[in-house]
Amino acid sequence: MAVIIDGKKVSAEVKEQVRLETAELIKKGVQPGLAVIIVGDDPASRVYVNNKKKACEAVGFLSREYALPATTTQQELLELVNKLNDDEEINGILCQLPLPKGLDEKSVIEAISPLKDVDAFHASNVGKIMIGDYDFLPCTPAGVMEMLHSYNIAVEGKKCVVIGRSNIVGKPMGMLLLHENGTVTITHSRTQNLKEVTREADILVAAIGKPKFVTADMVKEGAVVIDVGMDRDENGKLCGDVDFENVKDKCSAITPVPGGVGPMTIAVLMKNTLKACKLQNNL
Ligand code: GUN
Repeated sequence: MAVIIDGKKVSAEVKEQVRLETAELIKKGVQPGLAVIIVGDDPASRVYVNNKKKACEAVGFLSREYALPATTTQQELLELVNKLNDDEEINGILCQLPLPKGLDEKSVIEAISPLKDVDAFHASNVGKIMIGDYDFLPCTPAGVMEMLHSYNIAVEGKKCVVIGRSNIVGKPMGMLLLHENGTVTITHSRTQNLKEVTREADILVAAIGKPKFVTADMVKEGAVVIDVGMDRDENGKLCGDVDFENVKDKCSAITPVPGGVGPMTIAVLMKNTLKACKLQNNL
C-alpha cells in the first residue's frame, strides 16, 4: 500500500513557518504585501485566487485583489502592473493565468518587476533558475520538491520522468529535479512510446491537464507518483492526471487530488512573497 503524500499537512507546516516570520517582520513595522490580478471570470481561476487570498490572511500578509473584466485591454493591464511595480506596500505581484483570449500573457509577465515576480515566470528569473542562482522558484515545481523533502524521498541518481513541458510546471520541474541530481526526461504530446518511458521512472510527475491520463500500466512497481493535474472527470468531479484508484496500489508513494500538490503551490507562493519582502527591505 502506497504512502499517500499529504500536501495539506506539509503546506500547513510551510505556512506556519511563514506566519511566524511574518509576525517578526510586523514587529519591525514591515508587512509583506501580495497583489493578485484576475482577469475575466474563469471559475477555476476564481477558486485559485480565493485560496491565495485566504492563505495571505492566514499568514498575516496584506492582500489586494484586482478583479478586472474580460474586456480589459492589454494597455490597461500593463498600466496596472506598472502601478503595482511602484507600489511600496506591494512586494509580490501575481497575474492569474490563463488570461482571456486577446490578452498577451508573455508581455504581462515581462512587465512585472523581476523583484516582485513571486511566480518566478519572468525571463530573468527563469534564466537565474537555469544557472542555479535564484531568488524565487516557481510555486508548483518548488512545492513538489518540498513534499519530496518532507517525505525523505531522495532524487539523487533517480530516473525522473515529467509528463508535460509547460513553462509553468513541466520545464521548471525538470530543472529542479536536475538540480537535485535526478536523471531527468521531459516527455510531451510528441513523445513516442510514452508508456515505455514512464515505466522506467522512479519518480513520475504528471502535468498534462488530462483527467486520469496516467494509468497503472504506465507506472513502475514501487515508483513515486506526483500528480500536478486539476481536472474534472466524466461526472464533473475534481480529479488529477493520474488514475489514482488503480495506480495507488502499484507505487510506493502518491499525491492525491485534491489535497496533494495544490496546497503546496500556495504555500510556496507565501514563502516567495515573504522572501520578496525581505529582499526589498534589505532584511
Ligand atoms: N495558473 C495556473 N497555475 C498558476 C500559477 O502558479 N500562477 C499563476 N499566476 N497562474 C497560474
